Amino acid sequence: MKTLIILAHPHLDTSRVNQKLANAATRIDNIEIRDLYKLYPDFKINVVAEQAALKKADRIVFQFPIYWYSSPALLKQWEDAVLTHGWAYGSTGHQLQNKEFLLSVSVGGGQEHYTRTGLHGYRLAELLRPFQSMAGMVGMKYSRPFITFGARTITDGELQNQADHYVKLLQTVTPLPKFGLLETESDS
Ligand SMILES: Cc1cc2nc3c(=O)[nH]c(=O)nc-3n(C[C@H](O)[C@H](O)[C@H](O)COP(=O)(O)O)c2cc1C
Repeated sequence: MKTLIILAHPHLDTSRVNQKLANAATRIDNIEIRDLYKLYPDFKINVVAEQAALKKADRIVFQFPIYWYSSPALLKQWEDAVLTHGWAYGSTGHQLQNKEFLLSVSVGGGQEHYTRTGLHGYRLAELLRPFQSMAGMVGMKYSRPFITFGARTITDGELQNQADHYVKLLQTVTPLPKFGLLETESDS
C-alpha cells in the first residue's frame, strides 16, 4: 500500500498541528509527502511530476489547515492544474480510479462551532463537499475525514494522541472507513 500525502500549508515552519502530523507520518513505510508550498512557492506546478506521483499511489491524502472554509490557495491551484480532463476524468481519464482518498484537515474552531446552531453554521463534512465531489468525479473512494478540531487550543498531549491516531490510520492496509453523501447530523 503506497500512500501519497499532498501537504498544503503556506507556513509550515510556524505550524503546530500540521507540522506535527506530517512529521509523524514520515515514520511510515511506503509514504511520500509532497510539500506543495516548498515545491511550488511561485504557484507554477509541475503537472507531469504530480501526475506521476499520484499514479504510483494507492492512497492519496490531502493534508491542510482549513483557511476560510476551504484549502489554502495552492491546493486549489494544484487541483485545477493536475486533475485534467482525459487524465483524471472524462471518457478516457481513469488514472485515479479506485484509489483511496483521505482528507486530513485542521481547524481553529471547536467541533461545537461546526453545527447548525454553532458559530460556523455548518458541519465540517458539509464544507468539505467540494473535495468529496472531486473524489467521486475522478473515481476515488472518499473516506471519513481525519479532523483536528481546536487547533489553537489543543494541548501537547492531545496533539500527540492525534498524531498517533494519524499514524495508525495511515498504516491501515484494509480500506479506510467510507463516508457517504448522506451522513447523519452527528457525523463531522
Ligand atoms: C487565513 C486563515 C483562515 C482561516 N480560516 C479558518 C476557518 O475558516 N475555520 C477555522 O476553524 N479556522 C480557520 N483558520 C485557523 C486555522 O485553520 C488553524 O490556525 C490551523 O488549522 C492550525 O494548524 P497549524 O498549527 O498547522 O497551522 C484560519 C487561519 C488562517 C491563517
